Amino acid sequence: MARELDPGLLPVDTADPALRPKNLDEYIGQERVVDNLRVYIRAAKQRGEAMDHVLLAGPPGLGKTSLAHIIAEELGVELRPTSGPVIEKRGDLAAILTSIQEREVLFIDEIHRLNRAVEEVLYPAVEDYRVDVLLGQGPGAQSVSLPLPRFTLIGATTRSGLLTRPLRDRFPIQFAFDFYTPEELAVIVQRSAARLGVPIEGAAARELARRSRGTPRVANRLLRRVRDFAEVEGGGHVDLAVVRLTLERLEIDEEGLDGVDRRILHTIAVKFDGGPVGIDNLATAIGDEADNIEDVYEPFLIRRGLIQRTRQGRIITSRGRQHLGLPKAEGSLF
Ligand SMILES: Nc1ncnc2c1ncn2[C@@H]1O[C@H](COP(=O)(O)OP(=O)(O)O)[C@@H](O)[C@H]1O
Ligand SMILES: [Mg+2]
Repeated sequence: MARELDPGLLPVDTADPALRPKNLDEYIGQERVVDNLRVYIRAAKQRGEAMDHVLLAGPPGLGKTSLAHIIAEELGVELRPTSGPVIEKRGDLAAILTSIQEREVLFIDEIHRLNRAVEEVLYPAVEDYRVDVLLGQGPGAQSVSLPLPRFTLIGATTRSGLLTRPLRDRFPIQFAFDFYTPEELAVIVQRSAARLGVPIEGAAARELARRSRGTPRVANRLLRRVRDFAEVEGGGHVDLAVVRLTLERLEIDEEGLDGVDRRILHTIAVKFDGGPVGIDNLATAIGDEADNIEDVYEPFLIRRGLIQRTRQGRIITSRGRQHLGLPKAEGSLF
């Protein structure tokens, strides 16, 4: 049932099962989230009840889908995966809901992309464990309210800001994911390397971690490329030199920015004279989708203090200019 989202808009989940953490102990970082979850999972199990609904919000590749699977695993129940854009009609969601078993997890990825009509079916389902279904057709159709077993909804979103207030309010448990520290990513890189059977030096893992945009998915993706270079250009063994060579070939710079990141910075700095520029104008100038820039690129550039989001639009910071090797803007306060 899980289907990939529009590949042009959101990064396709190329999660490779071999590298996906299987339980909370294997899940590195996000400690605040994990520590609290342990409590909620235990409490639900002790009471023999469904756990409260959970919202996981944050940029792509930070481990939301992995965590949803782990929660179900730790609860000892099935996870039913689906995603916002896949559920087109009210009836689609009603069908899913009526097939759910007691205490199971319904996972809705990209939940901010549910359409309004479908979303309204979700409200009574998560609040009162009821679903209204239409029996029959035409003027003779009758609406019947069916009881549902108690289940747990886990919603994941890259854009919690796009969630409607009523939907957001129906999640008693909400976690905002943050980018990973280089130390956490280094542990993830080491583990992934071990799973892939790639020998990697500590310094090499740290360098890769530092330049992976704070994102486990990026770290794992880069590790695969590093392995290729190590096997073809080195002796299969990953040292600092191989990591640096690989990242140079991939045009990933010292801070982990790739070509698109730099194009965004450069476009704001030069074409829009430092900004502010609206997201649509920026997207057009770059030739990318506004959604993709907002989901994938912007959060990291903002987190790094390279750009800022103001009411009027995006502006480049003096750090951003510096990163491009541009002189300070005239009259800049930064
Ligand atoms: N906390 C973590 N510990 C170890 N690996 C992780 C962690 N979070 C994510 N990953 C790795 O990154 C990949 C992408 O994570 P995923 O759960 O698909 O992210 P999201 O759903 O937020 O886009 C996973 O397949 C896994 O290999
Ligand atoms: Mg995901």
